[in-house]
Amino acid sequence: MNGLNKALSSTIGTKAVVAVTGAILAFFVLGHMAGNLQLFLGQDAVNTYAATLKGMQGPLWLARVVLLASLIAHIMGNLKLRARNQAARPQAYAQKKPLESTLFSRTMLVSGLVLLAFIVFHLAHFTLGMVEPGFYELHDAEGRHDVFSMTVLSFQQPLIAIPYLIAMALLFMHLAHGVASLFQTFGLRTPKWRDGIDLGGRLFAIAVVVGNIAIVLACFVGLIHPAQGAF
Ligand code: HEM
Repeated sequence: MNGLNKALSSTIGTKAVVAVTGAILAFFVLGHMAGNLQLFLGQDAVNTYAATLKGMQGPLWLARVVLLASLIAHIMGNLKLRARNQAARPQAYAQKKPLESTLFSRTMLVSGLVLLAFIVFHLAHFTLGMVEPGFYELHDAEGRHDVFSMTVLSFQQPLIAIPYLIAMALLFMHLAHGVASLFQTFGLRTPKWRDGIDLGGRLFAIAVVVGNIAIVLACFVGLIHPAQGAF
């Protein structure tokens, strides 16, 4: 146990924790986006999907615990690596231009912090119903939580849609760099594979973010509209 603790708190161990938890979170956002695309299929599809997930209380809570633990370990690990980097290099470089630095890599802390704020807001919005209680309390004809109408009515409002779109732009930046650096941590981003992995990271980020943006915009412009009777 002591050995495991030591291994995990070494720089390599911390990098591995950051990479594995990043992969878990990245797969979650991909799966979540794919599930949410059912908004294009209409009220019954979305509400059935949401009710099915909520009906599986055991797996749902397991997934929530794994996600929360991953998020905390991902943030703590990154902060630890940053602190170690700075301690090892107390004097700022005369010319601050790290090798292979890109806009996305330099803004990982900022994009990560904005995403953390987004997650807190998003949970308050859709999971806890604290942002728009009126939409959260809607039920469909079968008495199920009307996740479809709640989501569509929310994204019809610019004050909700625009912050979501901004958060998605930052999610793109965070994922595009994060997915590639995950491969780097495990030594797979070799010169031979580097371009392919970087492209793959960007394509992954594009898939997640384009799917999410399509949902927000489709509701905003009225392509997906609220079910009859919901307001
Ligand atoms: C525009 C894109 C998104 C839409 C339309 C969306 C939609 C939703 C909806 C409707 C719920 C509540 C589901 C229910 O009550 O049954 C939800 C929950 C959640 N969303 Fe999103 N989401 C989006 C993006 C994201 C992103 C980018 C993340 C993570 C960074 C995320 C993380 C979560 C989490 C953790 C939950 C709570 C799940 C639970 O109840 O345990 N969502 N989302």
